[in-house]
Order: sequence, then structure tokens, then C-alpha cells
Amino acid sequence: NPAARRIQGAAGTALQESKEYFRMEQKKLNDILAPALLKLSETDTEILESLHLQAQQYGKLMAYYRSALMELETKFNVMNEEFKLLHDREPIVSMSSRVKKPMSIKQKLERMSLPLSFESLENGLHDIAGLRVVCSFLDDVYMLEKAFLAQDDVTLLKRKDYIASPKENGYRSLHLIVQTPIFLVKEKRVMTAEIQLRTIAMDLWASLEHKMKYKPDKEVTKSTSKELVQCAKIVNKLDNKMMLLNT
Ligand code: GTP
Ligand code: MG
Repeated sequence: NPAARRIQGAAGTALQESKEYFRMEQKKLNDILAPALLKLSETDTEILESLHLQAQQYGKLMAYYRSALMELETKFNVMNEEFKLLHDREPIVSMSSRVKKPMSIKQKLERMSLPLSFESLENGLHDIAGLRVVCSFLDDVYMLEKAFLAQDDVTLLKRKDYIASPKENGYRSLHLIVQTPIFLVKEKRVMTAEIQLRTIAMDLWASLEHKMKYKPDKEVTKSTSKELVQCAKIVNKLDNKMMLLNT
């Protein structure tokens, strides 16, 4: 169907253009889009315009999530600095953050039977922005949690303590869904993010388990799963022992 192919092509162009949007001047953008637009029918143009606007809105929203992650990471960096001054050691070993990829967002919305809309994305998904904080000792996890949640611009929405009650497969970490504001030029916007706090040992287990789970050629067998639960128990023992040695 040539008409469908034409619209598909136009949609592809619109998405690509909007990716460049922030880097390009408006005039330059018009120079590229205008000749292409002349060749399209009115319906094509409407579709293209709507796609372009949506892609722009999506890009903006993701920039807000990245900003929220910057704010949150700073909060943890500040606590780490202060602790270092007071106790001569750092409770945070490393941090990593990510914004959920478009395809994962789409799949999760479908899994949750939510419409593909900006509203359901912002209200229904709490892990678009994710920050992982890897701590030295087990008690550092709870010390940081307490100090973080005591901050007056942090609101706790949901807490899942997979350390106190590990998942059946052995997974352990402390998950916090929180809201925190970002300050834009003209407005304040409250953003939601997921924070995972864990020890180095828990992180080691989770990283390796993840790698095994997503190996393309191999399925995790029942006996491997059992062994993984055993490994998680060893990790737990190790964490407790190291914490006691440190106190
Ligand atoms: P998601 O749809 O994955 O977000 O699950 P959920 O909304 O039920 O949240 P949950 O707290 O169970 O898990 C959220 C995140 O924790 C995941 O995206 C992973 O980063 C991590 N996680 C949870 N379970 C496991 C696990 O069994 N193994 C590993 N390696 N990571 C896990
Ligand atoms: Mg998730």
C-alpha cells in the first residue's frame, strides 16, 4: 500500500527530526521539513504534526526524569560527603541511574493494561527513573534510607524491603518509590523515581543472577535456581558478618 508506506516514511522522518529538535534552530528545521511537507496530503500532514508534537513531549518528559535523577544522586552524594567528614569512610560505593527505554515503557504499559498515554506513563509507572545506590555495609543501607526519607522534599510512596523479606529466588535490596521536585525555569514539577539500595554483596548476586537469567541460549534450570537461593543465603551471611566486624 503506497499511501501507508508514505505515511510510515513520514512518521519515521518526524521522529528522527524531533530527536534533533533541541540541537537545531527552528529555521533549519523548517528548511528540512517544509519541502517534505509540500509533498504530503492534508491527512498526512496532520498525522506528521501530531507525531512530531508527541515525540517532542516525550523527549521533554524524559528530560524531566533525568533531572529528577540528578537531584536524587546529589542528595546521596551530599550525605556521602558528610559521612566521610564525620567518620572517615564512605557509606556509598557507587551509584548508577537510568531512564527506562521507550520499548520497555511500552511493554510495561501493555502488561499493566494501561493505555499508551503520557498520563498513564506518569501516574501508572513508578520506575521510569531509577537510581541504584550500592553501599559498603548492611547498616549503611538503613542509615542512608532514614536520612534520605527525613529530607523535607522527599515523599515516600512505596517501600519494599526485599532485605528483610527476600524474593523467593533470593533477590535482596531495599526498594523505595519516592517523589521529589525538580525546579524548572518557570515551574516546579514533582517527579517519581525508584531507588534501589543494596550492599556490594547483594549487588554482586543481583548482577550475576541477571546475567544468567537473560542468557540467550540457556534457560535457568531448577537446580541452578536452587543453587542461586543458596548463594543468596551465603551473601546474607557475609553481609551480616562484615557488618559485625565493622562495628
Ligand atoms: P518490574 O516490572 O521489574 O519493575 O517489577 P515490580 O514493579 O514488581 O518491582 P520489583 O520491586 O519487583 O522490581 C523492580 C526492579 O528490581 C527490577 O527492575 C530489577 O532492577 C530489580 N529486581 C527485582 N527482582 C529482581 C531479581 O529477581 N533479580 C534481579 N537481578 N533484579 C531484580
Ligand atoms: Mg522495574
